[in-house]
Amino acid sequence: MKQRFVVGNWKMNGSRAMAASFVAETLKSHALPHRSVVAVICPPFPLLYEMAAMLRDAPLALGAQNCHAEREGAYTGEISAPMLQEAGCQYVILGHSERRAHGHETDAEIARKVASALAAELTPIICVGESLAEREAGRAEEVAVRQLLHSLPEVGQQSIIVAYEPVWAIGTGLTPTADDIIAMHAVLANTLERERGITAAQCPILYGGSVKPANAGEILDLPHVGGVLVGGASLNAESFCAMVLAAHAPM
Ligand code: PGA
Repeated sequence: MKQRFVVGNWKMNGSRAMAASFVAETLKSHALPHRSVVAVICPPFPLLYEMAAMLRDAPLALGAQNCHAEREGAYTGEISAPMLQEAGCQYVILGHSERRAHGHETDAEIARKVASALAAELTPIICVGESLAEREAGRAEEVAVRQLLHSLPEVGQQSIIVAYEPVWAIGTGLTPTADDIIAMHAVLANTLERERGITAAQCPILYGGSVKPANAGEILDLPHVGGVLVGGASLNAESFCAMVLAAHAPM
């Protein structure tokens, strides 16, 4: 059966105490495990080892929010994909718009990071999405497709995840219309299939940007939407579990 992803991106938020209560509450809830949902939390790096220990054998996977393209070396302050793998991660978010904007990450650099993540057997979650000016200029699809193709190395048969996150919807409470989400996801899915031979089964496409319990169910039910990538509303266990529940397929 097709599984839907609910991925929480904590960004630069959280503490050891918060992580401990989040994990305890989430594992107590009846939202998990469920055969139709893959739930993932991406905390800041320092919390990874401790959360991995708390989550051993639990139905909640761990991801990171970035990695370096090289395996090791003189890159002060950076963290490599093999280090994330050793820390217990299965996923890594790459090319988030906040990193593209503040860290000036280019598509080419993101593609190298994706290759490094795949080599370390991590599933990359590659983020693409247009700014408000680009959407208003009618260039949303062109921008997202360009980012997608340029941020994607040769991937072979490995699993990858793409997240469509319009920059103007992140942290703003604004979301695109259902029709806009469907149209963009269809374009991205067709591009992957046509240009790279990557099928929807190999690459779920998540939506991200102001997802919360109140709109998660509706978004998850849209065609071509393989899950959600959630920032603010993933910091609270109750709200995260509500979105996992919304992703349950009818039994
Ligand atoms: P948001 O962030 O859910 O707080 O809008 C989403 C993201 O940046 O991944």
